Amino acid sequence: MPRTALPQRPPFTLRARLLTPLGAGGYRYESDARVDVDDGGRIAAVTAWSTAADAIDLRPWLILPGMVDLHLHLPQLPNAGLGAGLDLLTWLERYIFPLERDFDRSAAERLAPAAFQAMAAAGTTTALMYGAVFEPSLDAAFEAAEAHGIRAVIGKVMMDRLRYDPSLPEASVLETSLRQSADLIDRWHGRDNGRLRYAVTPRFAVSCSADMLRESAALARETGAYWQTHLAEDREEIAEVHRLFPDALDYTDVYDRAGGLGERTVLAHAIHLSDREITRLADTSTRIAHCPSSNLFLASGAMPLGRYLDAGLVIGLGSDVSAGPDLSLFAVMRAGAYTQSGLRTMLDDHYSPLAPPDWLRLGSLEGARALGLAHAIGSVEVGKEADLIVVDPALTAPLPHLDAAEPEEIASRLIFRSHPNMVRAAWVRGRRLDGPPNA
Ligand code: GUN
Ligand code: ZN
Repeated sequence: MPRTALPQRPPFTLRARLLTPLGAGGYRYESDARVDVDDGGRIAAVTAWSTAADAIDLRPWLILPGMVDLHLHLPQLPNAGLGAGLDLLTWLERYIFPLERDFDRSAAERLAPAAFQAMAAAGTTTALMYGAVFEPSLDAAFEAAEAHGIRAVIGKVMMDRLRYDPSLPEASVLETSLRQSADLIDRWHGRDNGRLRYAVTPRFAVSCSADMLRESAALARETGAYWQTHLAEDREEIAEVHRLFPDALDYTDVYDRAGGLGERTVLAHAIHLSDREITRLADTSTRIAHCPSSNLFLASGAMPLGRYLDAGLVIGLGSDVSAGPDLSLFAVMRAGAYTQSGLRTMLDDHYSPLAPPDWLRLGSLEGARALGLAHAIGSVEVGKEADLIVVDPALTAPLPHLDAAEPEEIASRLIFRSHPNMVRAAWVRGRRLDGPPNA
């Protein structure tokens, strides 16, 4: 498929295979589908193939919904793959804080455009991200996302306790950080009809005072922005939170007391939770970003996913770059599936034997649901915005001409034999994103 033949802008009609989760449950597979995208960038029709003038024939490629990455750290991408097996707090001090300390506006201008292209090349069309602490670097990241076309939710990191810029006077950190976050919300939250949004981003309880957690949650509530932070990733982190917040019932209660739980909140990791915490997160409809490749990389732990799904938690997937080594959500699904297999073989308890199409659903529609966007994106269904990718499943075959034919098998190959070049194009609202390599 030559580059010029792929549509750049809506309207267009695609002919290809199709695999998508469905809002009503289950999934839909068509071996020969027609997908019409109207001039507003919405999906106008999804049918078995019927003749259409000017259809772009992508067969034997496969259309999927664009993937939703619920958790990653934009400034950390250059570090991806470094520091495996270190414990979280050592890894942060050794690898991450020095990198983020240098993430000023010009570093963001250099990195962000290439990072968004790399995300699109991995099949990600929506990403919820941490930036670093410096306000101008956030403007640069948003400007790059605006120009690239990716759907992006980004937040300035807030820290007034364990932090990497101790040169700032202690007393003004909270006030400055809140004012800068509020100014960024004014400039960016809801931009381009909601394609760009803001997430108020206290780093985690180890880095934030109770005041910062409470004030940041209030800011998110008042403005309708998201609130994102980390929860219960690592045993030593949890012990430190107990030491810092001796009155709290547990780690989840630290965020609960701050007014941080709810359906606009996305908590990354959440792998070491008591029954009380699981129930409280489910009762408050708090969203979880499951980051299994990161949890294996830093030896943090294994999420008892079966328990969480039984409790009704809303869970999407996060690459957590750079604790997660790979931007691809297909690689994250693979790590997640292997983690559940590990739980099954070692503990025979609390694992979730998700089938490959279920993992695809977590990486797309469930991520959209976590962001409150399931009405708009996450599946290829009529009326949704055309956030789509096409993949070449032949690249996942062990030998040439051994392409899988059944939808479960196709999904299995995409996850367990994913290929770095398999994503051939990505669109947000029918607008093509730079990044995926073309044949
Ligand atoms: N907890 C606090 N900060 C971080 C971070 O940058 N990465 C991960 N994985 N966990 C964190
Ligand atoms: Zn993280």
